[in-house]
Amino acid sequence: MNPHIFSINIDDKPFKLEVYGDFNWGKEQHSLYKSLNNIIGNTSWEEEGYTIMKNIVTLDQFNSLRSSITSILFRITESLGISINKNLFFLEDYHLFIKSEKEHQSIIKKSRELSIDDFEFDIETITDNLSGFMNFRLTSWIKKFNKSHIQLRINRPKTYDINPPHRDGYIDGYKNVLNIWLPIAGCNDKTSLPVIPRSHFLPENQIFKTNIGGARINNNIYNVPCILKTSEGELKMIRPNPKETEALVFTPYLIHGAAFNDSNKTRIALELRFPRK
Ligand SMILES: [Fe+2]
Repeated sequence: MNPHIFSINIDDKPFKLEVYGDFNWGKEQHSLYKSLNNIIGNTSWEEEGYTIMKNIVTLDQFNSLRSSITSILFRITESLGISINKNLFFLEDYHLFIKSEKEHQSIIKKSRELSIDDFEFDIETITDNLSGFMNFRLTSWIKKFNKSHIQLRINRPKTYDINPPHRDGYIDGYKNVLNIWLPIAGCNDKTSLPVIPRSHFLPENQIFKTNIGGARINNNIYNVPCILKTSEGELKMIRPNPKETEALVFTPYLIHGAAFNDSNKTRIALELRFPRK
């Protein structure tokens, strides 16, 4: 099978993506996003579908979260028999320490399956601060999966360590949550997560996508349907670029992904999801 080569526009810069998969236009003439009783339904940023929340953690909390993530990575590499010089290791230099693709893939596999207990940092601090910001109680517990969703996203420079553009809202269990993307290391205007503002309102029949589990980039198969164009043409994404202590907060129906790392440092972010309590 030949790959589809799609052109995406990120902050007015073209980016080419090779994806294997069967693409079709969606069926429904309406959008799957429902404003009524929606988790972001009463916010001033519902129209855009995302916002940047300032002070999701204090600077001290950010630093302890970051060191907790460094410890988690040390534990993962140790458990895999990968030795790294801890005295010289910085998260941004991850790609200089983890040289082989095989080692990286085995680390990624483990960093996808983290639980709150893996963190020395109390993740409920984030839940509490976010609940205050949204004016109602949220929880990190996803009933459908009987676990919290907390994932480390490690993205080496100039690699395909990316998700294709997608919506998490296609997956049961992630329909009624708030998505959080929290920068940890190396996050800037060349690396941070792109989104398409207002794309949660797009009707399905204006979206060209694969089925669940139907897209492959390099050798990675993606769980979420991959979206590569809309009826308006190529995707036009922007990087909102939250800073340290801030987070990108967005509806799971917003199209996001393709966070190509166009810098020379490793980028690490924490991805969390919060339903209403
Ligand atoms: Fe996502």
